[in-house]
Amino acid sequence: MNPLAILECNNIFKSFDISSTFISKSKVKVHALNGVNFYVKRGEIVGIVGESGSGKTTLAKIITNIYKPDSGNIYFNKKNIHKDSESYSEYRKNVQMVFQDPYSSLNPRLKIISTLKDGIKQYITNNKKEIHEICKSLIKSVGLEEDHLYRYPHQFSGGQRQRISIARALSVDPEVIVADEPVSALDVSVQAQILNLFKKLNKEKNKTIILISHDLAVVNFLCHRVYVMYKGFVVEMAETEKLLKNPLHPYTYQLINSKHLQVDEVKNENVKSSCPYAERCKKYSAKCDNEIKLIEVGKNHFVRCAYYE
Ligand SMILES: Nc1ncnc2c1ncn2[C@@H]1O[C@H](COP(=O)(O)OP(=O)(O)OP(=O)(O)O)[C@@H](O)[C@H]1O
Ligand SMILES: [Mg+2]
Repeated sequence: MNPLAILECNNIFKSFDISSTFISKSKVKVHALNGVNFYVKRGEIVGIVGESGSGKTTLAKIITNIYKPDSGNIYFNKKNIHKDSESYSEYRKNVQMVFQDPYSSLNPRLKIISTLKDGIKQYITNNKKEIHEICKSLIKSVGLEEDHLYRYPHQFSGGQRQRISIARALSVDPEVIVADEPVSALDVSVQAQILNLFKKLNKEKNKTIILISHDLAVVNFLCHRVYVMYKGFVVEMAETEKLLKNPLHPYTYQLINSKHLQVDEVKNENVKSSCPYAERCKKYSAKCDNEIKLIEVGKNHFVRCAYYE
């Protein structure tokens, strides 16, 4: 365990059963997470990057307890959340998620003030006047006006709705915010406002932030440290600057040097490697068929690649 971690996941496995074809009843397993280790320190902003289907949202939903892992443990303030009911309720309040699509995560029939009140009543106070004051300051803290509290979700723009979902996450004063692609659906100008808001929350309120993004520029702007995921594995982890300047895993290298997270042509067919990237890797060779682990190759720089074993 990392002594400074506020939240830590150990050896998380998660798979889903899906129908093998549209009409068939037989099931196949999708292995979304394959032994993922993850931690975040208090006050840190950590990024999770990787192409579509690499397991980012699944990890976010495990971290926020929306999904239960098949195996593996989650620790909040060093306590296993599934084994200690007191730490579970502390964790429930303190780890909040901002979803990728704020529209589907906001109740269309509730005015914003009602959405915000729920969590405040549950975790902060029952006093009506205090609840009202908290709602006013929350809506202002995300750059909206008091009268926005009395509107419905459909009366806002995408960027405003994303602010509201951030306000909702903040309503219970959590220590950790998990944001899944919080700006990918927004215009560039609105993106900057939301990213600056996250930066401010971190700097001024010491909020710990886990940010999922497919955009390395966003990660570079905000994150102190980054996890790179590929097919349910963490393939590299390092401080952002180090990772961007000196990517070690061939997948990370490709990610940084291609503008989009595009899918390469398969180069090596029928490979039997424990490396999930082997079939697309330019550096693939026989040594990649040995068992590969995530190992520390420099200070706080981890990579899962046979070339660094
Ligand atoms: N509820 C589910 N049922 C079945 N399969 C799922 C479910 N959620 C995720 N998966 C599968 O698990 C794998 C990882 O999906 P996940 O949504 O975590 O990827 P992601 O990295 O967030 O991708 P994206 O960048 O597209 O959001 C994918 O193969 C996906 O199809
Ligand atoms: Mg996702």
